[in-house]
Amino acid sequence: MNSRFLKPVMLSIALILTSFFFSSSIIKENGLFKPGQVWNDIEGIPVNAHGGGILYDKGTYYWFGEIKKGKTWRVEYITSWECYRTNAGGVSCYSSKDLYHWKNEGVALAPNATDSASDIHSSKVIERPKVIYNEKTKKYVMWVHIDSEDYSFARAGVATSDKPHGPYTYMGSFKPNGQMSRDQTLFKDTDGKAYQFCSSENNATMYVNELTDDYLKPSGKFKRIFIGLSREAPAVVKHNQKYYVLSSGCTGWDPNPAAVAVSSSIMGDYQLLGNPCLGKDGDKTYFAQSTYILPVAGKENSYIALFDRWNKTNLEDSRYIWLPMRFEKEKMIIDWKDEWSLEK
Ligand code: DGJ
Repeated sequence: MNSRFLKPVMLSIALILTSFFFSSSIIKENGLFKPGQVWNDIEGIPVNAHGGGILYDKGTYYWFGEIKKGKTWRVEYITSWECYRTNAGGVSCYSSKDLYHWKNEGVALAPNATDSASDIHSSKVIERPKVIYNEKTKKYVMWVHIDSEDYSFARAGVATSDKPHGPYTYMGSFKPNGQMSRDQTLFKDTDGKAYQFCSSENNATMYVNELTDDYLKPSGKFKRIFIGLSREAPAVVKHNQKYYVLSSGCTGWDPNPAAVAVSSSIMGDYQLLGNPCLGKDGDKTYFAQSTYILPVAGKENSYIALFDRWNKTNLEDSRYIWLPMRFEKEKMIIDWKDEWSLEK
């Protein structure tokens, strides 16, 4: 072929190959978890999903969390503990296929901006949202910690949606089994039964509340665990037919040592196994607090422990600490990593 024709043809082939190379998954940017660093969504905006939890639904992960936006201030009339707060911004939802790159799906549960009597008015507390899917009703069910500015209301709120990312319709709040409910999580067992774990009795004792088949209320069956031990920030995982509850002590927004407990039945008795956090600053839970344990879909024995590193004087800038979690026999182990990926 004449070189006058050859040159443009080769140039076009090179261009096509380059664009294919960059747009295809051949060099798809490998993800990295960078605990404690600012984590931007795919639009370059910091993820705002604190005290959160993850729902895995039909090949997509949905990350729900507290929206903490704007000014943080200390509630001055509360002197017994450092009650720092932001306005309740509602619950955010982000989606991802790979756990590294997150798309903002918008506000899943919007706060009420006008009715100051509403549970979810921005002047209140909306914390630790968790979502599970109910196969029978085909509803996505969200439970949240609802509280007043001074944390004396201590209730669980429930919201539902037909779609994983929402919007969720708020149905109201209650005290499960007539007891206080502050830090909380949901756990859906392999038999489809679901449970709410919450700090109760003024945070002194944790409750495991079995839920009704539609997941909207407590069934009435419950168990008091960690009696008088003042544990909060529960995160629950099932491994080899045993149930593990990771939790923190109660020191407001300040870090303390984590502890894990194990039981062969969801309702207990739980046996305390000590602090699973090893490595740098493990004795202070890496200056963070547990919020969720995620079994990685399709990867047996692969778990991620999710923590919040609270910045109490600027809560919006609180960071996420996601670390690999593993089991050695019955022992849960979490180790610090500056950065890591699931592939390694
Ligand atoms: C500790 C809890 O774990 C957080 O969710 C939040 O409620 C703070 N206390 C408030 O101080």
